Amino acid sequence: MMRGALIVLEGCDRVGKTTQCVKLIEKIAAENGKSSLLKFPERSSLTGQLINDYLSNKLELSDRVVHLLFSANRWETEAQMKLLLKSGTNLIVDRYAFSGVAYSAAKEGMDIEWCRGPDIGLPRPDLVVFLDLDPRTAASRVGYGEERYEHRRFQEVVRENFLKLKEDNWKV
Ligand code: TMP
Ligand code: MG
Repeated sequence: MMRGALIVLEGCDRVGKTTQCVKLIEKIAAENGKSSLLKFPERSSLTGQLINDYLSNKLELSDRVVHLLFSANRWETEAQMKLLLKSGTNLIVDRYAFSGVAYSAAKEGMDIEWCRGPDIGLPRPDLVVFLDLDPRTAASRVGYGEERYEHRRFQEVVRENFLKLKEDNWKV
């Protein structure tokens, strides 16, 4: 059986990743392909609940601790991801380790190389689609500003970080 493809959608907040992930799932289904949608952070797990409280400003955590929680949140799904890929299911992933690095490294005193460490060894995507949008347009979208990182200046730094992470398996 052919291994499924691992396709990751990345980008800043409110650029439309979730919408495009759903469209991709529908398109694959219309062509009789098998696919599964994953989203990080996965807020339902134990680490995910802590992350959710942090993002909604109900909980304070140090930058390094929250970085490691985001990474642990991905590692929790690793075995399931490998099984699904092996069984021929295409995985469409809404954010992955690139978000982990781009957001944490946008913070004062957080080194981009240090940030890469915890996610090393996770399955490598076959394709990363980076949805690029002018931060000003994203900021005008419904709901912007509700969560911790949704500030214009911060998002601009996150966007620059994403572009530093670009490899040959990326499409911008
Ligand atoms: P979401 O809006 O896609 O649910 O993501 C929640 C926020 O968490 C978003 O601002 C990006 C941020 N984030 C990180 O800081 N590190 C990570 O590893 C991930 C996956 C998301
Ligand atoms: Mg968001």
